[in-house]
Parts: sequence; structure tokens; C-alpha cells
Amino acid sequence: MISKSNDEVMPSTTPLIVVVVLLLITLASGALVAGQNSTAGGCPTKCGAMDIRYPFGIGDGCSRRGFEIVCEDGGVPFLAAGADTKPIQVTGLSIEKAEARVMLPIAWQCFNSSDVVYSSSNGMVQFNEHGVYRISSTRNHLVVVGCNTMAFTQNQPNAGDDYGYDFFTGCTCYCSSRFHATSGDCSGVGCCQVDIPAGLTDNSMVFYNLSHRSKLQFSPCDYAFLVEKESYSFSTGDLRMNVDRKMPVTLDWAIRDGSLSCSHAKANKSTYACVSDNSDCLDSMNGPGYICSCSTGYEGNPYVPNGCTDINECERKDKYTCYGNCRNKPGSYDCRCPKGRSHSADPYNEPCIPNFPLAAQIVVGVIGGFFIIALVVFITLLRREKRKTKEFFEKNGGPILEKVNNIKLFKKDDLKPILKSGNIIGKGGFGEVYKGHIGETNQPVAVKKPINVNLAKKDQFANEVIIQSRVIHKNIVKLIGCCLEVDIPILVYEFISKGSLEDVLHGSNRLPLNLAQRLHIAAQSAEALAYMHSKTSTTILHGDVKPANILLSDDLLPKISDFGISRLLAIDNEHTMSVIGDMTYMDPIYFQTGLLTDKSDVYSFGVVLLELITRKKASHSDKNNLLKNFLDAYTNGTTVRDFIDEEIAATNHLELLAGIAGMVVQCLSLDVNQRPEMTDIAERLHYMAKKARGI
Ligand SMILES: *[C@@H]1O[C@H](CO)[C@@H](O)[C@H](O)[C@H]1NC(C)=O
Ligand SMILES: *[C@@H]1O[C@H](CO)[C@@H](O)[C@H](O)[C@H]1NC(C)=O
Ligand SMILES: *[C@@H]1O[C@H](CO)[C@@H](O)[C@H](O)[C@H]1NC(C)=O
Ligand SMILES: *[C@@H]1O[C@H](CO)[C@@H](O)[C@H](O)[C@H]1NC(C)=O
Repeated sequence: MISKSNDEVMPSTTPLIVVVVLLLITLASGALVAGQNSTAGGCPTKCGAMDIRYPFGIGDGCSRRGFEIVCEDGGVPFLAAGADTKPIQVTGLSIEKAEARVMLPIAWQCFNSSDVVYSSSNGMVQFNEHGVYRISSTRNHLVVVGCNTMAFTQNQPNAGDDYGYDFFTGCTCYCSSRFHATSGDCSGVGCCQVDIPAGLTDNSMVFYNLSHRSKLQFSPCDYAFLVEKESYSFSTGDLRMNVDRKMPVTLDWAIRDGSLSCSHAKANKSTYACVSDNSDCLDSMNGPGYICSCSTGYEGNPYVPNGCTDINECERKDKYTCYGNCRNKPGSYDCRCPKGRSHSADPYNEPCIPNFPLAAQIVVGVIGGFFIIALVVFITLLRREKRKTKEFFEKNGGPILEKVNNIKLFKKDDLKPILKSGNIIGKGGFGEVYKGHIGETNQPVAVKKPINVNLAKKDQFANEVIIQSRVIHKNIVKLIGCCLEVDIPILVYEFISKGSLEDVLHGSNRLPLNLAQRLHIAAQSAEALAYMHSKTSTTILHGDVKPANILLSDDLLPKISDFGISRLLAIDNEHTMSVIGDMTYMDPIYFQTGLLTDKSDVYSFGVVLLELITRKKASHSDKNNLLKNFLDAYTNGTTVRDFIDEEIAATNHLELLAGIAGMVVQCLSLDVNQRPEMTDIAERLHYMAKKARGI
């Protein structure tokens, strides 16, 4: 039963042991894997003050093969050397330059008085177990010290051939007494030096045994060593050097697995060392193999994944110059002068030159500023002017006149060429009259431009436009158009060549006129007034009939002008007038009643008629009593013949003259009902004119 129970126990204990063993194996292997791997697994990154970066590393699995570093207590790094040599101290490691700086022992041998070498060392240490290092031929040289000494270095001889060296180099130095050697001078007296070729893999030296017998006092030993060129300077004391002395030497390292060049190395991804993005491979300059380098514009460690990082060049002005605006890019940077403001042939290396010097910028700015202000002022004035123009246009009845197609509306600019002082043909209280030509037909015109007019006269101009727009008659001066874009309208009339009846009768243009001509003028003038009084749709009173307002064309056709104080009876029922015409011709009844009627025009016409036959000037003043004398003569029944102008008095149309005289008297009657209608006057004058012409 017991055995049986044992049997039963056995199977249950066995699996337990298996499980424990398996667990231990798993843990062990796990520990092994963790220990083996490099950066991920807690590899030290420093030894003392020195950074240890891959491919270098401290501890198992922390470095690439051949790049192991030993960190001794106290933080002193050493190259892991062969078992039989002491580790070699490392004083510098550079990934970027692919260099390692180490302290190497010197080679030496000392003679006894029998001229026999009794103690020596060839200096060799095994720092290059895996062949990653070469002595830098550019940074180091060979120095030999002694007063009858010859030493050289060589690369490893080929097996079985004593002289199978690739190279063999050294130098000899001599001195007959201690006083010949000079500190700082290593040119053959007590010290010599020689460059070394690339490819040197160790520091072993070979001496020739030259006699020291006579020099034992001051130079008992030979010394030879590799040393950085700038790190050793000969001193006469070195003729008795401490044989334990170490010399600084720069080593070139490279990835030399299987002596691969870059092109070969890249083919095998599992061993290729340049694992970082943005890294490049460079063939080693010293020995076989290759080194890795971050691409231009990147920095860091190309031997680890993502080790190469972009350089922000803009933050390192000392190394990456830029005189313009700097912008970092992956692997490079942009440098541009501020656009439009400055330029440079090469902003990376040459300063940006402003396109405009500051002074010019200021000048341009100031001028620009003034220009803009001037422009704004100009536009404001232009708009104000335009607004004013429009206001005037509307005030002067423009919108109404626009619909009247027999009157042309001129723009200010249209009349500008005419309104020159050289063109003035008349001047008066009302304004100035200019002669000019207008339109494609070059029609001669008289332009009436008001000047310095008071408020009342302003209205006359507007009034005239409105009246004239309604009267079209061969005996009324034609208003061709006007310009409403000014405060007071400028009026453009047809040009009447001979001037006014006033001028022709009494003034500068005095012309001989026979009775027929005078009657013709009177009849045509009367016809125009009759037309105004009755033929137009609304009665228009002229209000200022006088010789000066009757113009004469070439063929003496009269044309009534100046409707400044005319009245539209239909509109203005009161037709009282604040402005009155020439007192000489003004109806005295009007003065009494203050009421202007068509008979007022008849009275004025009577005076004109009287002047026409007497060629004497009527006047309001008491001294000239033409009217009174004529009327007196007529009422007294005495002959009025004395009053008649001699030019027509001599004719045999006495009957006609008497008729005219009678008409004058009727017109001047103080009983307005006695005064004939204008139509009547016109008819009778036409009849008389025909008779005078003998028809
Ligand atoms: C160890 O490093 C190698 C390359 O150095 C890598 O391929 C491997 O995955 C790493 N192993 C671990 C466990 O991290
Ligand atoms: C010099 O050294 C050799 C070899 O060790 C020895 O035979 C010789 O006696 C020494 N001479 C003197 C003077 O010590
Ligand atoms: C110099 O002398 C030493 C010891 O006597 C000997 O081992 C060595 O081979 C000699 N060197 C040469 C180049 O003869
Ligand atoms: C790459 O290198 C590894 C290790 O040296 C080797 O085992 C493998 O065969 C190589 N692969 C190729 C394709 O050469």
C-alpha cells in the first residue's frame, strides 16, 4: 500500500520539478538577452567625464565588436586590450572624426658599460585585438631620442619572410656631448622625428644596437615612440627618460568587419553600421573598412537608429551664417533677404543691402503722403464742385429746361474758350457779353455772363431763360442755350451783327436810315411784341422795351432782346415789379398803380417810335423834354415836323409821318384805354412800311 502510495506521489512531484527547471532556464535566458543588448538595455553612457557612444560601449553587448571600453573604478576609461597587456587609457573618443585618443608606452633599451643592452622594451601593447584601429598617420609621427640611436617602426611582416614588410621607417640621431642637444630642437642631434605612413596597426619599435660606451654619462638609453605631432617637444632631460612614460597617440578607427568598403557593407543590412536615417557611408582613409557620418545638415550618431537629427542652423549663427531671414529645413536652411526691401547676391555670406536707403524711403514716404493728401483734397473739391454744379443746375430750372428741346444746355467747359477777355464785345451792369463761335457749324454767338450781380439780378437771368424758352419768333433774339452749372446761368444767344437800335440811331454804329427802313424796323419790332402779348400760350410782358433792347441784323431785321424783367402774366398774376426798366421808357401809369400791363409795353414802344422818327434821344431827366415838347406841339396843333429827323423829313411821305406821330401820341396817352393794342400797332406799321417802300 505504501509503495503504492509512493507510486501515486511520484507522478505528481516530477512535473513540479520540470516546471521549476524550465522557469529557471527562462529567467536565465531572459537575463542573458537583456544583458547582451546595447543602448536599450541600460548601457552606461559615460565613464567619468567621457561620453561613451555606440559603437563604443561599456559592458557585454553594449558595443560593437572591437569597440569595448573598460571603465575602471574612479571613472577612468581604457581600451579593452589583450590579456597579457595592461589596458590602454583612453583620453578621447570622437564619433564624428572616427578617432580615439590613447596613451601608449614608449619603446626603449639601455646599455651597460660593456656596451651591452641590459634592459629593454619594444613598447608594444595589444590595443587592436579586432583590428578596428590604425595609428593616425596625419596626427602622429615617430620620435627617436638618444645620442647614438637608430630606431624604426614597421607593419606586421608577412609570415615566413623576414623582409616582407610593406613599409619600414625610422631615423637616426647622434650627439657627441650633452651640450650639443638643444631642447625644442628635434632635428637629429639627440632627437629625430619622421612622419609615418598610413596603415600602421601597432606601436612596436626596432632598435639598431649602436655604441653608447662614450655617452653613458649623458645618454645611456635609446628611446622611440609614436606621439601626436603637437603633443611632444624634445627636452635634453629626455635623454634620461622615465621608461614608464606614456605618450598620447591618436588612433583612426573604422568598421572593418571582413575589411568591407562602403559598397560592400551596404549590401548586408544585418551588419551595416550606418543605421541612422540621413547618414552616409565613407570609405576609411586609413586602412580598410568604412566609417559613418550624418548627412550634411544633420548631426548626432549615425551608428544608432534615428541617431542623426536635423541641425537647426538658424540657432547657430556662429557656424551657419545668414544675413537675411533664416528658415530651418530638414538637412539645410533657407536664407533670404526680406522680400522687396533688400537684396544680396548671396545672403548666406553677404549682407542684405536695402533696396532703398532709409533717407530715400523717408523721402518717398513723405512725397507719397503729400500726394495722397493732395489727391484726397482734390477729389473732395471736385466732388463739392460737382455737387455745387448740380445744385445750381437744379436751382436754375435745369430739370425743366432739359425737356425743352429748343434750348441747348451747355457745360461749363463748352463755354470756357469763349469767355476770354479778348472776346468781350459789351459790358454793363448786367454783366459781360462775349462774342464767340460754337458747335460744329461754328455758329457765331453772343454769350452773356453775369458778373457781381445782386440777388435781384440773379433772378433776372433765370427769368430770361424761362421766358426765352417759350418765345420763338424771327424778331426775338434767339436763345440758343445756356449753362446752368453756375450760380447764375450763362446765356448763349445768336449773334446779331449790327448791334442795337440805340447804337444805330444815336451811337457808335450810327447808320443812315430812310423812312421805309425805319418803318420796317418799327413794324417788325411791334410784331414781336404783339406776338408776346397775344400769340403765345401765355401772355408775356417785356417790361423794358427801349432802343438798346432792339438789336439789328445785317438786313436791319430787328430782334427784341433782354427779357430780364419780363413777366409771364399767367403765372405771376400780381405782376408787380420790384425791378423796373429804364425810367425814360417806363409807363408813368405803372408808377401810379404799380400794375404792369401790356399797355406799359405799348407806352415804351411809343417812346421808341418817337426816337425812330426824330433820331433824338429821349431822356428821363427834365432837361431833355423830347416827349413833353413833342406832345405839347402835337396837342397845340402846331406842326411836329420840326421834330422829325431831317433825313426823312425831306421825303414826300408827310402823310405817313403824320400817321406815325399820331401813333406815338396814342401810345404815350396817359389813359391806357386810348393806347392801341400791340397787334393793331404792328398791322398799321406794316401797312405804312409798305407805303413808304412805294408798294
Ligand atoms: C539588440 O540589438 C540588435 C542590434 O544591435 C537588435 O537587432 C536586437 O533587436 C536587439 N535586441 C533586443 C532584445 O533589444
Ligand atoms: C653587461 O651585461 C652583460 C649581459 O648581461 C654582462 O655579461 C656584462 O658583464 C655586463 N658588464 C658590466 C660591466 O656590468
Ligand atoms: C641588440 O642587442 C640585443 C641584446 O644584446 C639583441 O637582443 C638585439 O637583437 C640586438 N639588435 C640588433 C638589431 O642587432
Ligand atoms: C550578412 O552578414 C552576416 C553576419 O556576418 C552573415 O551571416 C550573412 O550571411 C551575411 N548576409 C549576406 C547576404 O551576405
